[in-house]
Amino acid sequence: MQRVFIEEIAKYDGQEVIIRGWLTGRRSKGKIHFLQLRDGTGFMQATAFKGELPEAEFEEADHLPQETALEVRGLVRADSRAPGGYELSVRGLKVISRPSREYPITPKEHGVDFLMDHRHLYLRHRRAWAVLRVRDELERAIHDFFHARGFVRLDAPILTPNAVEGTTDLFEVDLFDGEKAYLSQSGQLYAEAGAMAFGKVYTFGPTFRAERSKTRRHLLEFWMIEPEVAFMTHEENMQLQEELVAYLVGRVLENRKLELEMLERDTRVLETTTQGHYPRIPYTQAVEMVNQIAQSKPELGLTPLQWGDDFGAPHEAALTAQFDRPIFVEKYPAAIKAFYMQPDPDDPRLVKNADMLAPEGVGEIIGGSERIHDPELLRQKIREHHLPEEVFDWYMDLRLFGTVPHAGFGIGLERTVRWICGIEHIREAIPFPRMYTRMRP
Ligand code: 4AD
Ligand code: MG
Repeated sequence: MQRVFIEEIAKYDGQEVIIRGWLTGRRSKGKIHFLQLRDGTGFMQATAFKGELPEAEFEEADHLPQETALEVRGLVRADSRAPGGYELSVRGLKVISRPSREYPITPKEHGVDFLMDHRHLYLRHRRAWAVLRVRDELERAIHDFFHARGFVRLDAPILTPNAVEGTTDLFEVDLFDGEKAYLSQSGQLYAEAGAMAFGKVYTFGPTFRAERSKTRRHLLEFWMIEPEVAFMTHEENMQLQEELVAYLVGRVLENRKLELEMLERDTRVLETTTQGHYPRIPYTQAVEMVNQIAQSKPELGLTPLQWGDDFGAPHEAALTAQFDRPIFVEKYPAAIKAFYMQPDPDDPRLVKNADMLAPEGVGEIIGGSERIHDPELLRQKIREHHLPEEVFDWYMDLRLFGTVPHAGFGIGLERTVRWICGIEHIREAIPFPRMYTRMRP
């Protein structure tokens, strides 16, 4: 008898098969026990009729606790009423292991904190299963996208001597003899070295920000993908981002339909996202738009912005709610952006950067820019930002030997998962979230 996976159950319609997995729940109606099974690849109901399996096994089925590990033999039957379209008629049942005590996550409602305290077990449940399978699809799609375009994956270090995105949210690590390092905020500087060696590279790794805030979109540890391309312009950079996001959303719509259904995700905006044509809004205009919304919708309680202010989450939410696909906000004031961004020749107060903001009130998922390639200007910016020049000597070398215009961006994996899955809080977009208020399990 063949052991099969629930994911492929349709192939075995009418055949007797074996499924190995766990019991997620059960109920009984006299001579019938309904067993809810999961095997990692999916969820399915097995129905045990008295008389169709050995009596002792039928009896035992009525006493199995949640999360019992099981081997179930049965006949696969199409049943339009069954979730997933198939049911298993049980012919035999073997217990592999019984839980040592009562499983803490029962079918009743639990608070989010309780569930996240039990994240190591909560991973088994439908919601986590659906979200993290979308995440997995995205990870693979990202590699496929870049490799199809001739990018080389370059792994950036985690222990770094440099700050990249400002010094306020660095995690310090004690090295030897009083020396210090930081957990990487971004692999970008290393990606820039890679772009000069391989032309087109991307990093894919964990990054760290010591965010002392409880928000629904910040983690202490998150995964970022950072492409960097020699000779790429600001406009080409946005084009690449648009193609990437359209492709990623398309892949999820195609390969993770069931998961999006389980999450009750309304996919209309995801569909339009695959069509490209993301509006590009200059910073200055975006400020005016936000202020107009603040005025016309006082019920939102938006704080009006001055030119030069950065957008807060509520501003981004109000702005993106106006669109049916992601938007770019481009050319921010240099004063509120990182030291390495190339000034806009048309208005030197601005830089050639863009943030991609996801629709439906979600906000920033990508930050990117052209990089300064002139060594003198870069040196000046490092000084203006009060960054220690000695640790940037290697980065400066990239400008001393065949410097060229180049650009890149960073897409936050968890922000993207959160948006595509339509989930409230970023903590569910990663298997084991690390936040200001959570370090366990
Ligand atoms: O905008 P950020 O800070 O840009 C950079 O780090 C650049 N060095 C990227 C580059 O040009 N190579 O971060 C990029 C993205 C954000 O748009 C967001 O999606 C994500 O990283 N991100 C976070 N995600 C979760 N928790 C946090 N604390 C995050 N901080 C940034
Ligand atoms: Mg940013």
